[in-house]
Amino acid sequence: MIKINYVCPTHNTNNFMSERILILGSSGQIGTDLVQFLRTKYGNENVVAADLKAQPILIGCEGPFEFIDVLDGQKVFDTIKKYKITQVYLLAALLSATAEQKVKSAWRLNMEGLFNILDIAKENPALKIFWPSSIAVFGPTTPRIQTPQYTIMEPSTVYGISKLAGERWCEYYNAKYNVDVRSIRYPGLISYKTDPGGGTTDYAVAIYHEALNKKSYNCYLREDTRLPMMYMPDAIRATTSLMEAESSRIKIRSAYNLSAVDFTPIEIASSIRAHIPEFEMTCVPDSRQAIADSWPQSIDDSSAREHWGWKHDYDLDKMTEDMLMHLKVVSNKAL
Ligand code: NAD
Ligand code: SER
Repeated sequence: MIKINYVCPTHNTNNFMSERILILGSSGQIGTDLVQFLRTKYGNENVVAADLKAQPILIGCEGPFEFIDVLDGQKVFDTIKKYKITQVYLLAALLSATAEQKVKSAWRLNMEGLFNILDIAKENPALKIFWPSSIAVFGPTTPRIQTPQYTIMEPSTVYGISKLAGERWCEYYNAKYNVDVRSIRYPGLISYKTDPGGGTTDYAVAIYHEALNKKSYNCYLREDTRLPMMYMPDAIRATTSLMEAESSRIKIRSAYNLSAVDFTPIEIASSIRAHIPEFEMTCVPDSRQAIADSWPQSIDDSSAREHWGWKHDYDLDKMTEDMLMHLKVVSNKAL
């Protein structure tokens, strides 16, 4: 896929200027967009990016960056002290497909990384924490249509097991130690700035790149596999709205169901064909099919809507138009 530097919009810093934010796992799919959004909002110098790998260059949004392994709790703590951090977003994790290949290291990263942050927050009550969960907390015994906030949760993947355990620990640290930790069960996220990081829903990003570059795509899921999905601008808005909400409005301290759209490979292909009529898709399912089959098809997120006013903006066709428009700009710049 194409790599390019991004120009940040003009700064619109406001009265949240006193926040000092640390984003761990900042060079990945969500982190790249989140760093850009938060630096634009809070000021470049107030948002510290940190990862094992270097940050994509964000022109106009350059700011502090630290090479940090989230498994190194002391380094995380020293960085929080050094920059007088008030909010931590912990994004470092192994995603569903990769985690099935690296079972023990996925469990270690996804759990120990979280404990390091929760334990620091336990001793520093002013810290606010964001930690993402996933639709992967649900499993084959969960009702798959309009999956409720509270329901059967028997995940069958390493990733899902780690996210469900993480949710229980977040709720525990909030109840026992008053840690202000907030979380969302993200659906599959679609964005154009970076490659996704080894998930089951990655096809819904790759399909746009291949549609533009090759006019064809071979999908690793069956054409009728329906999954909940969300465009990145909605995901960033949800995340930052949750973090900015008054504490009294956050009534769920495990993780909130969150929803925008749901679609199948055949439906996203048809949405793309409205712009690229010659686009063709074939489907040859691989091991990721079993993971997708264990997840919900759609999500009931009425709690997020009621508690902190969540409302999505992008449907499938609006997302397709925006994705293709941005990827075309990126391709032209790369020529
Ligand atoms: P990603 O794989 O794109 O990015 C993760 C980043 O973490 C990478 O830049 C990686 O280098 C970094 N990292 C890995 N190990 C690290 C370590 N030990 N120390 C520091 N950094 C490390 O993932 P993403 O898509 O940005 O997801 C971020 C979070 O959101 C994860 O917790 C993921 O489970 C969750 N989530 C993502 C999606 C999605 O569709 N992208 C959906 C649901 C939940
Ligand atoms: N998009 C993520 C994955 O497929 C869901 O958490 O792993």
